[in-house]
Amino acid sequence: MEKKVVFSGVQPSGGLTIGNYIGAIKNFVDLQEKYNCYYCIVDLHAITVPQIPKDLRKNTLEVLAIYLASGLDPEKCTLFIQSHVDAHVELTWVLNSISYMGQLNRMTQFKEKSKKSEENLNAALFTYPVLMAADILLYQTEFVPVGEDQKQHLELARDLAERFNNRYSETFKIPEPLIQKFGARIMSLQNPENKMSKSDENENSYILILDKPDVIRRKIKRAVTDSIGEVKYNDEQLGIKNLMNIYSVFSGDSIDVIENRYEGLGYGKFKEDVAEVVISGLAPIQKRYDDLMKNKDYLEKVYRQGAEKANYAAIKTLRKVYRKVGFIQR
Ligand code: TYM
Repeated sequence: MEKKVVFSGVQPSGGLTIGNYIGAIKNFVDLQEKYNCYYCIVDLHAITVPQIPKDLRKNTLEVLAIYLASGLDPEKCTLFIQSHVDAHVELTWVLNSISYMGQLNRMTQFKEKSKKSEENLNAALFTYPVLMAADILLYQTEFVPVGEDQKQHLELARDLAERFNNRYSETFKIPEPLIQKFGARIMSLQNPENKMSKSDENENSYILILDKPDVIRRKIKRAVTDSIGEVKYNDEQLGIKNLMNIYSVFSGDSIDVIENRYEGLGYGKFKEDVAEVVISGLAPIQKRYDDLMKNKDYLEKVYRQGAEKANYAAIKTLRKVYRKVGFIQR
């Protein structure tokens, strides 16, 4: 039996956070054993906000190296750069023709980003979720592992697949989101009501996968908590809850075990331990990352082979789509 397809992507917009790791990349690694996985570095998405070209090149390789350093194996899954597979842009155009402006206008990510920088408002930012739908639908994807913030985009992808299938006959598989119950939304260390994000102005609000131990210790020490003073998991103590989630993911200990361990101990000791667990969880990834970044030839080999495999699968779907909408075969 053919393996089911998994697709996901990460933007190379500089400095991935432990939110990206916990909400997405860590799960990619587990899925590669059982499914036919495509993991993309979505550089076409990244240019929806202004990028410095030389940084974009560096950040693209950085995401690939983090994929590999986190345990993704190019023998088991397909790792590639989005702009290397033309079909992503081509399918986007066709899907644009069945996307309603009203629905795109309701996308929360678009609303937030456009509020932040009105002068940078561009048409690509508006149709960004359509490109994301094309990414997913090209591979006849069954499952899409993402963090909570991408759920609405996934719903749009499903809508577009259904709309196309209804209008032109069965073409796309309808993808399902795979959102972890735990860690799908890692929060800002400075304001635990907001998502942890690399675009936050306050660098103390996020931990990067590549942050050095001292930086991690400092950021966790400064993390906002509350005046209750007990390490308990509930919605009155969002800062502590977030740190407990992080601790649990990196240590493998359950929330109950953590609550019991810190009963009566206060926040100082707890925060120190969270920092150490994160530091030792990231250390092997950082070490492998450093080695990989010294081996550009290897990175190039991986993304070239990945693009070849991805292209082969993507073209099959695109040909079908072009035929169905009435384009004459070339
Ligand atoms: P991006 O690059 O913003 O984030 C990559 C992945 O990390 C998850 N994530 C988080 N998870 C938990 N807590 C957080 N604080 C946190 N921050 C980010 C995101 O949910 C995502 O899974 N549009 C996508 C990229 C994309 C894509 C796709 C994803 C493009 N095409 C096709 C899946 C399928 C994005 O901007 O993710």
